[in-house]
Amino acid sequence: MPNDRKKFIQQVGAGLLIAGMPSIASAQEFSGSITDVNDFEGGDAEDEKYWKRIANKYYVVSKDYVNLENGYYGIQPKPVLQAFERNILLANREGARFARKLYPELSTTIKKELAAFLHVSPEEIIVTRNATEALNIAIQGYPFTPGDEVLISQLDYYSMIEAFRMLEKRGRIKVNAFELPLLPANEDEIAELYRQQITDKTKVILLTHVSNINGLIVPVAKITAMAKQKGIDTITDSAHALGQVPFSLPALGSDFVGMNLHKWIGNPIGAGVLYIKKERIKEMSMLFGDVNTAENDISKLAHFGTTPFAVMMTIPDSLAFHKLMGVEKLTRRLHYLKSIWINELEKLPVVEIVTPKNLSCAIASFRVRDKKVAEVADYLYHQHNILTVNRSLGNEGCIRVTPAAYTSADDVMKFVNAVRNYLK
Ligand SMILES: Cc1ncc(COP(=O)(O)O)c(C=O)c1O
Repeated sequence: MPNDRKKFIQQVGAGLLIAGMPSIASAQEFSGSITDVNDFEGGDAEDEKYWKRIANKYYVVSKDYVNLENGYYGIQPKPVLQAFERNILLANREGARFARKLYPELSTTIKKELAAFLHVSPEEIIVTRNATEALNIAIQGYPFTPGDEVLISQLDYYSMIEAFRMLEKRGRIKVNAFELPLLPANEDEIAELYRQQITDKTKVILLTHVSNINGLIVPVAKITAMAKQKGIDTITDSAHALGQVPFSLPALGSDFVGMNLHKWIGNPIGAGVLYIKKERIKEMSMLFGDVNTAENDISKLAHFGTTPFAVMMTIPDSLAFHKLMGVEKLTRRLHYLKSIWINELEKLPVVEIVTPKNLSCAIASFRVRDKKVAEVADYLYHQHNILTVNRSLGNEGCIRVTPAAYTSADDVMKFVNAVRNYLK
């Protein structure tokens, strides 16, 4: 095996190592690592044998139901879970000595690795506990002036809408909401619709990179470029984008981007990231009190208190596994799984697909004419052990279906057949 490959296996297995780290986190401790880079060769979207092997070897998932609700949080791959367990044991065994003597250096390493993964500077990110926290820091810390307007759509995530509505209630901004079409023809149509909604008071546009409601992928870079020409900022919610779809954070052009690592990166729950472009940091005010940090230092925004050490320490392992899996390959697979069910269900006249197949990835949604979405989702779960979730969308709502890396084409067909049964 070539040397760089060996090194990579060690990296995936070894987690974080720094001088003075107790032996429980040593590479030997993890010698039972199952990760083998050879397993990840090939992997076309339709290669069921490949994906079954990955699922069986790298994921432990419940066999008594079909999980098509992977939009909530991602299942950690086995090597990540092992690293997490090891990190929990370490943090617990070592107590305050660990937190005081080791963690400060570890957290710097974690931030560096995360920044490298995102292709930005460590001075432009803070590690948060989730995307909601990251985006609230951006939204509530943004330097609005009286009269500023913010543009949102009905497909944005409700917590971010709440945050802007709260600022509106406090008299700081005015929120303008508009309806995106559910089935736009292409990216240009979406960008043009945003452009048309801009007023001379628009200061910020909230962009939900991948909608949690119908999976629509919004052309963030295009809209941001157009907005910037008019002096408007975008605050981008990439909670569902990071790890699900390939993108370059610098190329998005958005100066404020919130993400999490527990959806598509596969990290243990409780980790998010906020990116703020270096030059913009000094304008931001703090959500969590801090008067001592320099105004152009992003850590002024990260005065969180005690952190979930083990969750944070596992970040390098989850990034390493995700890189090994390969985001392009994963995206193609997820797109394929989504297309299987859409291609089948769109033949049924009473089924309405509310997601544009080619402007989405894993997440897509549907509804059945004259049927309550909760009733359909309940039927799928109680009669067929298939978990989906119904989401609010206009008066009728929709049912969101989200496969993951470990989902088989057979599982997706079980869902298709269950819907067919429902309609009989
Ligand atoms: C689009 C979107 N933004 C933000 C969030 C919030 O993420 P977190 O739970 O990490 O705060 C979610 C969660 O589902 C989401 O779908």
